[in-house]
Amino acid sequence: MAAVAGCASGAAGSATAPTTPGAAPAKAKVLAKTSDIPVGGGKIFSDAQVVVTQPAAGTFKAFTAVCPHQGCTVASVASGKIICPCHGSQFQTSDGSVVQGPASTPLTEVPIKVTGGSITLA
Ligand code: FES
Repeated sequence: MAAVAGCASGAAGSATAPTTPGAAPAKAKVLAKTSDIPVGGGKIFSDAQVVVTQPAAGTFKAFTAVCPHQGCTVASVASGKIICPCHGSQFQTSDGSVVQGPASTPLTEVPIKVTGGSITLA
């Protein structure tokens, strides 16, 4: 029987780190402009899985957009409440607390920074 030789290259993983030389430290990505967030309302950023609210003029809050009930992404903000479309849970825009179940735990607050009209994840 002719054994096929070869194919024995022990592919040693390359150890080169693909970092850009002289790259600036990762800058916080701007999530939104403060002017994008309606007073008394909010906006959902599904890519970042974050909902940013402005419960009072100049006060910005951010919470995870993942509903603590069964993990749907909350879909809208209306009348001071963040609403999950899956089973209708509602949360306060001011502190993420449950207004209406079935969710029994609040939305977790996400730290943000507001600088010069831009909102970034802290
Ligand atoms: Fe949000 Fe059920 S997953 S209410």
